[in-house]
Amino acid sequence: ESYTEPYRPQYHYSPAKNWMNDPNGLVYDNCTYHLYYQYNPGGDTWGAMSWGHATSSDLTHWKEQPVALLARGFPDDITEMFFSGSVVIDERNTSGFGSDGKIPWISMYTSSYPVEQVLPSGKQVRANQQGQSIAYSLDQGETWTTYDEANPIILEPPAQYQDQWENFRDPNVFWHEQTQQWVVIMSLANIHKLLIYTSPNLKEWTLVSVFGPLNAVGGQWECPSLFPLPVNNDESNIKWVLVVGLNPGGPPGTVGSGTQYFLGDFNGTTFTADVGSISAPSNDTANWFDRGPDFYAAIGYNGLPEYERTLIGWMNNWQYGQSIPTSPWRSAMSIPRYLSLRTIGQKTALVQTPQENWASIAEEAIVSAFPSVADVHELGDIGKALEIQLTFSSRETAPGAVQGSSESGISIRASEDFSQQTRVGYDFATKQAFVDRTQSGNVSFDSTFASVYFAPLSPAPDNTVSLRIFVDWSSVEVFGGQGESTITAQIFPPDNATYARLFSTGGSTDNVQVRISKVRSTWA
Ligand code: FRU
Repeated sequence: ESYTEPYRPQYHYSPAKNWMNDPNGLVYDNCTYHLYYQYNPGGDTWGAMSWGHATSSDLTHWKEQPVALLARGFPDDITEMFFSGSVVIDERNTSGFGSDGKIPWISMYTSSYPVEQVLPSGKQVRANQQGQSIAYSLDQGETWTTYDEANPIILEPPAQYQDQWENFRDPNVFWHEQTQQWVVIMSLANIHKLLIYTSPNLKEWTLVSVFGPLNAVGGQWECPSLFPLPVNNDESNIKWVLVVGLNPGGPPGTVGSGTQYFLGDFNGTTFTADVGSISAPSNDTANWFDRGPDFYAAIGYNGLPEYERTLIGWMNNWQYGQSIPTSPWRSAMSIPRYLSLRTIGQKTALVQTPQENWASIAEEAIVSAFPSVADVHELGDIGKALEIQLTFSSRETAPGAVQGSSESGISIRASEDFSQQTRVGYDFATKQAFVDRTQSGNVSFDSTFASVYFAPLSPAPDNTVSLRIFVDWSSVEVFGGQGESTITAQIFPPDNATYARLFSTGGSTDNVQVRISKVRSTWA
Protein backbone atom coordinates (compact mmCIF):
# COMPACT_ATOMS: atom_id res chain seq x y z
CA GLU A 1 0.00 0.00 0.00
CA SER A 2 1.16 3.52 -0.61
CA TYR A 3 -0.91 5.14 2.16
CA THR A 4 -0.25 8.65 0.86
CA GLU A 5 -3.81 9.86 0.24
CA PRO A 6 -4.83 13.15 1.89
CA TYR A 7 -5.36 12.62 5.67
CA ARG A 8 -4.02 9.04 5.56
CA PRO A 9 -2.63 8.15 9.02
CA GLN A 10 1.09 7.44 8.76
CA TYR A 11 1.64 5.64 12.06
CA HIS A 12 -1.87 4.72 13.14
CA TYR A 13 -3.64 1.65 11.78
CA SER A 14 -6.28 2.18 9.12
CA PRO A 15 -7.57 -0.38 6.60
CA ALA A 16 -6.61 0.17 2.94
CA LYS A 17 -10.24 0.82 2.10
CA ASN A 18 -13.74 0.79 3.58
CA TRP A 19 -15.32 1.42 6.93
CA MET A 20 -13.85 0.32 10.29
CA ASN A 21 -15.11 0.75 13.85
CA ASP A 22 -14.35 -0.99 17.16
CA PRO A 23 -11.14 -2.94 17.79
CA ASN A 24 -12.10 -6.59 18.44
CA GLY A 25 -10.32 -9.68 19.65
CA LEU A 26 -6.98 -8.09 20.54
CA VAL A 27 -4.68 -11.00 21.27
CA TYR A 28 -0.92 -11.52 21.42
CA ASP A 29 0.71 -14.82 20.57
CA ASN A 30 3.96 -16.05 19.08
CA CYS A 31 5.47 -12.54 18.89
CA THR A 32 2.45 -11.30 16.92
CA TYR A 33 -0.15 -8.76 17.90
CA HIS A 34 -3.51 -9.47 16.28
CA LEU A 35 -5.97 -6.69 15.73
CA TYR A 36 -9.46 -7.67 14.58
CA TYR A 37 -11.99 -4.94 14.06
CA GLN A 38 -15.51 -4.11 13.02
CA TYR A 39 -15.31 -3.82 9.25
CA ASN A 40 -17.63 -3.28 6.31
CA PRO A 41 -16.09 -5.15 3.37
CA GLY A 42 -18.60 -3.52 1.03
CA GLY A 43 -18.46 0.20 1.73
CA ASP A 44 -17.14 3.22 3.57
CA THR A 45 -19.99 3.64 6.05
CA TRP A 46 -21.27 1.22 8.72
CA GLY A 47 -22.85 -1.97 7.40
CA ALA A 48 -22.36 -5.69 6.63
CA MET A 49 -20.41 -5.94 9.86
CA SER A 50 -17.59 -8.43 9.61
CA TRP A 51 -14.31 -8.87 11.45
CA GLY A 52 -11.37 -7.33 9.60
CA HIS A 53 -7.91 -8.44 10.66
CA ALA A 54 -4.38 -7.01 10.82
CA THR A 55 -1.17 -8.24 12.42
CA SER A 56 1.96 -6.59 13.76
CA SER A 57 5.17 -7.64 15.46
CA ASP A 58 5.68 -4.27 17.17
CA LEU A 59 2.28 -2.53 17.47
CA THR A 60 3.64 -0.06 14.92
CA HIS A 61 3.94 -1.68 11.51
CA TRP A 62 0.69 -3.43 10.58
CA LYS A 63 -0.15 -5.81 7.80
CA GLU A 64 -3.77 -6.06 6.74
CA GLN A 65 -4.96 -9.67 6.54
CA PRO A 66 -7.97 -11.23 4.81
CA VAL A 67 -11.34 -10.68 6.50
CA ALA A 68 -11.59 -13.13 9.41
CA LEU A 69 -15.36 -13.38 9.86
CA LEU A 70 -17.40 -12.30 6.84
CA ALA A 71 -21.02 -11.29 7.38
CA ARG A 72 -23.09 -14.37 6.59
CA GLY A 73 -24.78 -13.99 3.21
CA PHE A 74 -22.56 -11.04 2.19
CA PRO A 75 -23.20 -9.07 0.07
CA ASP A 76 -26.82 -9.49 -0.98
CA ASP A 77 -28.58 -11.58 1.58
CA ILE A 78 -27.09 -10.93 5.00
CA THR A 79 -28.53 -13.11 7.76
CA GLU A 80 -25.90 -12.62 10.47
CA MET A 81 -23.46 -9.82 11.23
CA PHE A 82 -20.45 -10.25 13.49
CA PHE A 83 -20.51 -7.47 16.08
CA SER A 84 -17.86 -6.67 18.65
CA GLY A 85 -16.16 -9.25 20.80
CA SER A 86 -12.90 -10.69 21.97
CA VAL A 87 -10.45 -13.54 21.43
CA VAL A 88 -8.74 -15.84 23.92
CA ILE A 89 -6.21 -18.61 23.45
CA ASP A 90 -7.54 -21.79 25.03
CA GLU A 91 -4.16 -23.25 26.02
CA ARG A 92 -5.69 -26.10 28.04
CA ASN A 93 -8.26 -26.95 25.37
CA THR A 94 -11.08 -26.46 27.87
CA SER A 95 -13.41 -26.00 24.90
CA GLY A 96 -12.44 -29.28 23.28
CA PHE A 97 -12.09 -27.54 19.91
CA GLY A 98 -8.38 -28.34 19.81
CA SER A 99 -7.25 -31.36 17.85
CA ASP A 100 -3.97 -32.94 16.72
CA GLY A 101 -2.21 -30.97 19.42
CA LYS A 102 -3.37 -27.68 17.95
CA ILE A 103 -4.31 -25.05 20.50
CA PRO A 104 -7.71 -23.54 19.75
CA TRP A 105 -8.29 -19.81 19.69
CA ILE A 106 -11.82 -18.83 20.64
CA SER A 107 -13.57 -15.73 19.48
CA MET A 108 -16.67 -14.69 21.41
CA TYR A 109 -18.73 -12.07 19.63
CA THR A 110 -22.23 -10.75 19.23
CA SER A 111 -24.32 -12.22 16.45
CA SER A 112 -26.68 -9.60 15.14
CA TYR A 113 -29.49 -11.14 13.11
CA PRO A 114 -31.14 -8.69 10.69
CA VAL A 115 -33.90 -11.18 9.83
CA GLU A 116 -36.03 -13.64 11.77
CA GLN A 117 -34.79 -17.18 11.21
CA VAL A 118 -34.27 -20.66 12.54
CA LEU A 119 -30.53 -21.23 12.90
CA PRO A 120 -28.56 -24.42 12.12
CA SER A 121 -28.53 -25.02 15.91
CA GLY A 122 -32.32 -25.18 15.82
CA LYS A 123 -32.54 -21.96 17.82
CA GLN A 124 -35.03 -19.41 16.64
CA VAL A 125 -34.20 -15.68 16.55
CA ARG A 126 -36.28 -12.59 15.89
CA ALA A 127 -35.33 -9.82 13.45
CA ASN A 128 -32.74 -7.53 15.12
CA GLN A 129 -32.03 -9.97 17.93
CA GLN A 130 -28.53 -9.97 19.40
CA GLY A 131 -27.00 -13.08 20.95
CA GLN A 132 -23.52 -14.21 21.94
CA SER A 133 -21.72 -16.72 19.75
CA ILE A 134 -18.31 -18.35 19.47
CA ALA A 135 -16.00 -19.39 16.66
CA TYR A 136 -12.68 -21.19 16.83
CA SER A 137 -9.43 -21.12 14.91
CA LEU A 138 -6.81 -23.85 14.71
CA ASP A 139 -4.37 -21.82 12.64
CA GLN A 140 -3.50 -19.00 15.04
CA GLY A 141 -6.34 -16.72 14.14
CA GLU A 142 -6.11 -16.78 10.37
CA THR A 143 -9.29 -18.72 9.58
CA TRP A 144 -12.30 -19.29 11.80
CA THR A 145 -15.08 -21.85 12.11
CA THR A 146 -18.32 -20.70 13.72
CA TYR A 147 -19.82 -23.09 16.26
CA ASP A 148 -23.01 -23.58 14.32
CA GLU A 149 -24.10 -26.62 16.34
CA ALA A 150 -24.95 -24.38 19.28
CA ASN A 151 -24.71 -20.68 18.31
CA PRO A 152 -25.70 -18.38 19.72
CA ILE A 153 -24.44 -20.02 22.89
CA ILE A 154 -26.15 -17.24 24.87
CA LEU A 155 -29.42 -16.74 23.06
CA GLU A 156 -31.30 -14.40 25.37
CA PRO A 157 -30.55 -11.90 28.12
CA PRO A 158 -31.29 -13.14 31.66
CA ALA A 159 -35.02 -13.64 32.33
CA GLN A 160 -35.41 -10.46 34.39
CA TYR A 161 -34.11 -8.40 31.43
CA GLN A 162 -35.61 -10.46 28.64
CA ASP A 163 -37.07 -7.40 26.89
CA GLN A 164 -33.48 -6.26 26.15
CA TRP A 165 -32.84 -8.87 23.40
CA GLU A 166 -32.10 -6.19 20.79
CA ASN A 167 -29.35 -4.53 22.85
CA PHE A 168 -27.41 -7.34 24.48
CA ARG A 169 -23.83 -7.35 23.25
CA ASP A 170 -20.03 -6.96 23.18
CA PRO A 171 -18.70 -9.96 25.17
CA ASN A 172 -15.18 -9.45 26.49
CA VAL A 173 -13.67 -12.72 27.75
CA PHE A 174 -10.63 -13.39 29.90
CA TRP A 175 -9.16 -16.19 31.98
CA HIS A 176 -9.43 -15.54 35.72
CA GLU A 177 -6.33 -17.05 37.27
CA GLN A 178 -7.44 -17.08 40.92
CA THR A 179 -10.68 -18.97 40.31
CA GLN A 180 -9.43 -20.91 37.26
CA GLN A 181 -12.37 -20.12 35.05
CA TRP A 182 -13.35 -18.04 32.06
CA VAL A 183 -15.12 -14.77 32.74
CA VAL A 184 -17.05 -12.68 30.24
CA ILE A 185 -18.49 -9.21 30.66
CA MET A 186 -21.07 -7.82 28.26
CA SER A 187 -23.64 -5.08 28.19
CA LEU A 188 -27.36 -4.52 28.28
CA ALA A 189 -26.75 -1.32 26.40
CA ASN A 190 -30.05 0.52 26.88
CA ILE A 191 -30.41 -0.04 30.61
CA HIS A 192 -26.74 0.61 31.51
CA LYS A 193 -26.15 -2.75 33.05
CA LEU A 194 -23.17 -5.04 32.61
CA LEU A 195 -23.58 -8.78 32.92
CA ILE A 196 -20.80 -11.03 34.19
CA TYR A 197 -20.89 -14.74 33.35
CA THR A 198 -18.40 -17.52 34.09
CA SER A 199 -17.63 -20.75 32.28
CA PRO A 200 -15.36 -23.78 32.55
CA ASN A 201 -15.26 -24.37 28.79
CA LEU A 202 -16.24 -21.18 26.89
CA LYS A 203 -19.41 -22.90 25.68
CA GLU A 204 -21.67 -23.03 28.73
CA TRP A 205 -22.04 -19.80 30.64
CA THR A 206 -23.61 -18.98 34.01
CA LEU A 207 -24.71 -15.48 34.97
CA VAL A 208 -22.94 -14.56 38.21
CA SER A 209 -23.46 -10.82 38.70
CA VAL A 210 -24.87 -7.59 37.31
CA PHE A 211 -23.21 -4.16 37.55
CA GLY A 212 -24.75 -0.72 37.07
CA PRO A 213 -26.17 1.70 36.34
CA LEU A 214 -23.62 3.96 38.06
CA ASN A 215 -21.79 7.18 37.18
CA ALA A 216 -22.14 8.31 33.54
CA VAL A 217 -25.18 6.80 31.82
CA GLY A 218 -25.71 8.91 28.72
CA GLY A 219 -26.98 6.99 25.67
CA GLN A 220 -26.07 3.31 25.55
CA TRP A 221 -23.37 1.41 27.42
CA GLU A 222 -21.21 -0.61 25.00
CA CYS A 223 -17.95 -2.53 24.77
CA PRO A 224 -17.21 -3.19 28.47
CA SER A 225 -13.93 -4.77 29.57
CA LEU A 226 -12.41 -5.70 32.91
CA PHE A 227 -8.78 -6.31 33.85
CA PRO A 228 -6.38 -6.17 36.82
CA LEU A 229 -3.47 -3.75 37.27
CA PRO A 230 -1.03 -3.34 40.16
CA VAL A 231 -0.95 0.07 41.87
CA ASN A 232 2.52 1.65 41.69
CA ASN A 233 3.92 -1.63 40.32
CA ASP A 234 3.15 -3.36 43.61
CA GLU A 235 1.74 -6.78 42.80
CA SER A 236 0.40 -7.14 46.33
CA ASN A 237 -1.91 -4.20 45.62
CA ILE A 238 -4.12 -5.09 42.67
CA LYS A 239 -7.02 -3.00 41.46
CA TRP A 240 -9.47 -3.97 38.73
CA VAL A 241 -10.28 -1.54 35.97
CA LEU A 242 -13.70 -1.65 34.34
CA VAL A 243 -13.91 0.25 31.05
CA VAL A 244 -17.26 1.13 29.46
CA GLY A 245 -18.12 3.01 26.28
CA LEU A 246 -21.08 5.39 26.09
CA ASN A 247 -22.86 6.50 22.97
CA PRO A 248 -23.92 9.23 22.94
CA GLY A 249 -22.76 10.41 26.34
CA GLY A 250 -19.00 11.01 26.28
CA PRO A 251 -17.04 13.39 28.52
CA PRO A 252 -18.30 16.90 29.34
CA GLY A 253 -17.72 19.23 26.40
CA THR A 254 -17.82 16.47 23.79
CA VAL A 255 -20.72 15.35 21.63
CA GLY A 256 -21.25 11.71 20.69
CA SER A 257 -19.39 8.67 21.98
CA GLY A 258 -16.80 8.44 24.77
CA THR A 259 -15.29 6.15 27.36
CA GLN A 260 -15.46 6.02 31.17
CA TYR A 261 -13.83 3.67 33.65
CA PHE A 262 -14.29 2.44 37.21
CA LEU A 263 -11.63 1.26 39.67
CA GLY A 264 -12.53 -1.48 42.12
CA ASP A 265 -12.20 -5.11 43.06
CA PHE A 266 -13.21 -8.32 41.35
CA ASN A 267 -13.48 -11.66 43.15
CA GLY A 268 -14.18 -13.90 40.17
CA THR A 269 -17.88 -13.19 40.17
CA THR A 270 -18.60 -9.62 41.26
CA PHE A 271 -17.01 -6.28 40.44
CA THR A 272 -17.29 -3.80 43.32
CA ALA A 273 -16.38 -0.21 42.52
CA ASP A 274 -14.31 1.69 45.08
CA VAL A 275 -16.40 3.50 47.64
CA GLY A 276 -16.26 7.22 47.00
CA SER A 277 -15.63 6.76 43.27
CA ILE A 278 -19.23 6.10 42.36
CA SER A 279 -22.61 7.68 42.60
CA ALA A 280 -26.05 6.85 41.40
CA PRO A 281 -26.21 7.68 37.70
CA SER A 282 -24.41 11.03 37.39
CA ASN A 283 -21.46 12.50 35.57
CA ASP A 284 -20.04 13.99 38.78
CA THR A 285 -18.00 11.01 39.88
CA ALA A 286 -17.32 9.59 36.41
CA ASN A 287 -13.71 8.93 35.46
CA TRP A 288 -13.17 9.65 31.79
CA PHE A 289 -10.64 7.50 30.01
CA ASP A 290 -9.83 10.18 27.46
CA ARG A 291 -11.23 13.71 27.40
CA GLY A 292 -11.17 14.12 23.65
CA PRO A 293 -13.97 13.32 21.20
CA ASP A 294 -12.23 10.53 19.28
CA PHE A 295 -11.51 7.60 21.57
CA TYR A 296 -14.10 4.86 21.75
CA ALA A 297 -14.81 1.14 22.14
CA ALA A 298 -11.36 0.59 23.63
CA ILE A 299 -10.29 -2.91 24.67
CA GLY A 300 -7.04 -4.44 25.88
CA TYR A 301 -4.84 -7.29 24.67
CA ASN A 302 -5.28 -10.82 25.91
CA GLY A 303 -2.22 -13.04 25.85
CA LEU A 304 0.23 -10.60 27.49
CA PRO A 305 1.74 -11.29 30.94
CA GLU A 306 -0.99 -11.02 33.57
CA TYR A 307 -0.42 -7.43 34.69
CA GLU A 308 0.60 -6.00 31.36
CA ARG A 309 -2.20 -4.24 29.62
CA THR A 310 -2.05 -2.55 26.26
CA LEU A 311 -5.26 -1.12 24.93
CA ILE A 312 -6.40 0.30 21.59
CA GLY A 313 -9.37 2.59 20.96
CA TRP A 314 -11.31 3.45 17.84
CA MET A 315 -10.10 6.96 16.97
CA ASN A 316 -13.45 8.24 15.77
CA ASN A 317 -16.86 9.25 17.07
CA TRP A 318 -20.36 8.02 16.21
CA GLN A 319 -21.54 11.64 16.02
CA TYR A 320 -19.73 12.26 12.72
CA GLY A 321 -17.67 9.13 12.09
CA GLN A 322 -19.40 8.20 8.86
CA SER A 323 -18.91 11.62 7.31
CA ILE A 324 -15.23 12.33 7.98
CA PRO A 325 -13.61 13.51 4.73
CA THR A 326 -11.36 10.50 4.07
CA SER A 327 -11.37 8.14 1.12
CA PRO A 328 -11.24 5.24 0.28
CA TRP A 329 -11.15 4.28 3.99
CA ARG A 330 -12.92 5.65 7.06
CA SER A 331 -11.51 5.50 10.60
CA ALA A 332 -8.19 4.76 12.24
CA MET A 333 -7.14 3.20 15.54
CA SER A 334 -5.49 5.15 18.36
CA ILE A 335 -1.86 4.68 19.27
CA PRO A 336 -1.76 1.51 21.43
CA ARG A 337 -1.59 2.60 25.07
CA TYR A 338 0.25 0.81 27.83
CA LEU A 339 -1.71 1.18 31.05
CA SER A 340 -0.64 1.47 34.65
CA LEU A 341 -2.03 2.72 37.95
CA ARG A 342 -0.02 5.30 39.85
CA THR A 343 -0.62 7.45 42.88
CA ILE A 344 -0.58 11.02 41.65
CA GLY A 345 -1.53 13.79 44.06
CA GLN A 346 -3.08 11.34 46.59
CA LYS A 347 -5.29 9.75 43.95
CA THR A 348 -4.93 6.45 42.10
CA ALA A 349 -4.67 7.56 38.50
CA LEU A 350 -4.92 5.50 35.34
CA VAL A 351 -1.76 6.36 33.43
CA GLN A 352 -1.47 5.87 29.67
CA THR A 353 1.86 5.54 27.87
CA PRO A 354 1.90 5.59 24.08
CA GLN A 355 3.39 2.30 22.95
CA GLU A 356 4.99 2.09 19.55
CA ASN A 357 8.40 1.14 18.32
CA TRP A 358 9.48 4.78 18.29
CA ALA A 359 13.12 3.97 17.61
CA SER A 360 12.09 2.58 14.22
CA ILE A 361 9.98 5.55 13.14
CA ALA A 362 11.00 8.71 15.01
CA GLU A 363 13.82 10.80 13.57
CA GLU A 364 16.38 12.45 15.78
CA ALA A 365 14.78 15.09 17.96
CA ILE A 366 15.45 18.78 17.68
CA VAL A 367 15.46 20.33 21.13
CA SER A 368 15.00 24.04 21.79
CA ALA A 369 14.91 25.77 25.15
CA PHE A 370 13.65 29.29 25.89
CA PRO A 371 14.04 31.05 29.25
CA SER A 372 10.79 32.83 28.47
CA VAL A 373 8.21 32.91 25.68
CA ALA A 374 5.92 35.90 25.30
CA ASP A 375 3.16 36.06 22.67
CA VAL A 376 4.49 33.72 19.94
CA HIS A 377 7.73 32.08 18.93
CA GLU A 378 7.84 30.74 15.38
CA LEU A 379 9.10 27.20 14.84
CA GLY A 380 8.73 27.23 11.06
CA ASP A 381 7.86 24.38 8.73
CA ILE A 382 8.13 21.24 10.86
CA GLY A 383 5.91 18.73 9.06
CA LYS A 384 2.75 16.67 9.39
CA ALA A 385 3.65 13.55 11.41
CA LEU A 386 5.37 14.48 14.65
CA GLU A 387 6.17 13.55 18.18
CA ILE A 388 6.45 16.65 20.37
CA GLN A 389 7.42 16.93 24.00
CA LEU A 390 6.61 20.34 25.48
CA THR A 391 7.36 21.42 29.04
CA PHE A 392 7.16 24.78 30.79
CA SER A 393 6.76 26.28 34.25
CA SER A 394 3.28 26.66 35.56
CA ARG A 395 2.08 30.25 36.00
CA GLU A 396 0.26 31.89 38.86
CA THR A 397 -3.00 33.40 37.75
CA ALA A 398 -4.87 36.24 39.36
CA PRO A 399 -7.77 35.10 41.55
CA GLY A 400 -10.91 34.96 39.43
CA ALA A 401 -8.96 34.57 36.17
CA VAL A 402 -11.11 32.94 33.53
CA GLN A 403 -10.60 30.20 30.98
CA GLY A 404 -8.59 31.40 28.01
CA SER A 405 -7.02 34.34 29.85
CA SER A 406 -3.61 32.76 30.34
CA GLU A 407 -2.46 29.90 28.19
CA SER A 408 0.73 28.37 26.95
CA GLY A 409 1.22 25.80 24.24
CA ILE A 410 1.99 25.03 20.64
CA SER A 411 0.08 25.52 17.40
CA ILE A 412 0.63 22.64 15.00
CA ARG A 413 -0.52 21.69 11.50
CA ALA A 414 -0.78 25.42 10.72
CA SER A 415 -0.89 27.12 7.34
CA GLU A 416 1.96 29.57 6.77
CA ASP A 417 -0.25 32.51 7.84
CA PHE A 418 -1.76 30.60 10.80
CA SER A 419 -5.29 31.16 9.55
CA GLN A 420 -5.54 27.38 9.89
CA GLN A 421 -4.04 25.74 12.96
CA THR A 422 -4.66 23.28 15.78
CA ARG A 423 -3.79 24.72 19.20
CA VAL A 424 -2.59 22.36 21.89
CA GLY A 425 -1.82 23.84 25.28
CA TYR A 426 -2.53 24.43 28.93
CA ASP A 427 -4.90 26.83 30.60
CA PHE A 428 -3.27 28.05 33.82
CA ALA A 429 -6.46 29.53 35.28
CA THR A 430 -8.47 26.32 35.10
CA LYS A 431 -5.53 23.86 35.22
CA GLN A 432 -6.57 22.05 32.10
CA ALA A 433 -4.80 20.81 29.00
CA PHE A 434 -6.68 21.51 25.80
CA VAL A 435 -6.91 20.85 22.08
CA ASP A 436 -8.58 23.52 19.96
CA ARG A 437 -9.62 22.25 16.54
CA THR A 438 -11.94 25.14 15.64
CA GLN A 439 -9.56 26.20 12.83
CA SER A 440 -8.07 22.85 11.97
CA GLY A 441 -8.97 22.78 8.26
CA ASN A 442 -12.08 20.91 7.13
CA VAL A 443 -14.46 21.24 10.06
CA SER A 444 -17.66 21.72 8.08
CA PHE A 445 -18.85 18.11 7.66
CA ASP A 446 -20.48 18.16 11.12
CA SER A 447 -21.78 21.13 13.08
CA THR A 448 -20.30 19.91 16.37
CA PHE A 449 -16.80 19.17 15.05
CA ALA A 450 -15.23 22.65 15.41
CA SER A 451 -14.69 22.70 19.15
CA VAL A 452 -12.19 22.89 22.04
CA TYR A 453 -11.61 19.92 24.37
CA PHE A 454 -10.29 20.17 27.93
CA ALA A 455 -8.71 17.69 30.35
CA PRO A 456 -7.90 18.43 34.00
CA LEU A 457 -4.16 18.29 34.65
CA SER A 458 -2.25 19.44 37.74
CA PRO A 459 1.31 20.72 37.32
CA ALA A 460 3.95 18.26 38.59
CA PRO A 461 5.35 18.80 42.13
CA ASP A 462 8.30 20.71 40.57
CA ASN A 463 5.72 23.13 39.12
CA THR A 464 6.20 22.13 35.50
CA VAL A 465 3.54 21.22 33.00
CA SER A 466 4.43 18.62 30.42
CA LEU A 467 2.56 17.58 27.32
CA ARG A 468 3.50 14.82 24.90
CA ILE A 469 1.76 15.49 21.63
CA PHE A 470 1.47 12.96 18.80
CA VAL A 471 0.48 14.47 15.51
CA ASP A 472 -0.42 12.47 12.41
CA TRP A 473 -1.90 13.46 9.06
CA SER A 474 -5.40 13.55 10.58
CA SER A 475 -5.11 13.29 14.35
CA VAL A 476 -3.60 14.64 17.51
CA GLU A 477 -3.22 12.69 20.78
CA VAL A 478 -2.07 14.55 23.88
CA PHE A 479 -0.67 12.78 26.94
CA GLY A 480 -0.48 15.26 29.83
CA GLY A 481 1.75 14.94 32.89
CA GLN A 482 2.79 11.30 33.26
CA GLY A 483 -0.11 10.27 31.01
CA GLU A 484 -2.87 10.63 33.60
CA SER A 485 -4.69 13.02 31.33
CA THR A 486 -5.25 12.43 27.61
CA ILE A 487 -7.06 14.15 24.75
CA THR A 488 -7.56 12.42 21.40
CA ALA A 489 -8.97 14.41 18.49
CA GLN A 490 -9.12 14.02 14.73
CA ILE A 491 -8.18 16.97 12.55
CA PHE A 492 -8.39 17.46 8.79
CA PRO A 493 -5.96 20.28 7.97
CA PRO A 494 -4.88 21.30 4.47
CA ASP A 495 -1.93 19.37 3.06
CA ASN A 496 0.35 22.41 3.23
CA ALA A 497 -0.44 23.05 6.92
CA THR A 498 3.00 22.07 8.19
CA TYR A 499 3.94 25.13 10.29
CA ALA A 500 4.16 25.45 14.05
CA ARG A 501 4.75 28.04 16.75
CA LEU A 502 4.80 28.31 20.50
CA PHE A 503 2.30 30.64 22.12
CA SER A 504 1.85 32.29 25.48
CA THR A 505 -1.19 34.46 26.16
CA GLY A 506 -1.95 36.80 29.08
CA GLY A 507 1.74 37.10 30.00
CA SER A 508 4.94 35.20 29.38
CA THR A 509 5.75 31.56 30.13
CA ASP A 510 9.11 30.55 31.63
CA ASN A 511 11.45 27.63 31.08
CA VAL A 512 9.87 26.45 27.87
CA GLN A 513 11.48 23.40 26.36
CA VAL A 514 10.29 21.78 23.17
CA ARG A 515 11.57 18.58 21.64
CA ILE A 516 10.33 17.71 18.18
CA SER A 517 10.85 14.52 16.18
CA LYS A 518 9.45 13.88 12.77
CA VAL A 519 7.75 10.49 12.58
CA ARG A 520 8.25 8.39 9.44
CA SER A 521 5.53 6.46 7.69
CA THR A 522 5.05 2.90 8.91
CA TRP A 523 3.67 1.96 5.48
CA ALA A 524 6.67 2.82 3.31
C1 FRU B 1 -19.83 0.17 19.36
C2 FRU B 1 -20.81 -0.78 18.68
C3 FRU B 1 -20.90 -2.07 19.46
C4 FRU B 1 -21.33 -3.05 18.42
C5 FRU B 1 -20.59 -2.56 17.20
C6 FRU B 1 -21.30 -2.80 15.91
O1 FRU B 1 -19.21 1.07 18.54
O2 FRU B 1 -22.07 -0.17 18.56
O3 FRU B 1 -21.75 -1.99 20.58
O4 FRU B 1 -21.00 -4.36 18.75
O5 FRU B 1 -20.38 -1.18 17.38
O6 FRU B 1 -20.50 -2.47 14.82
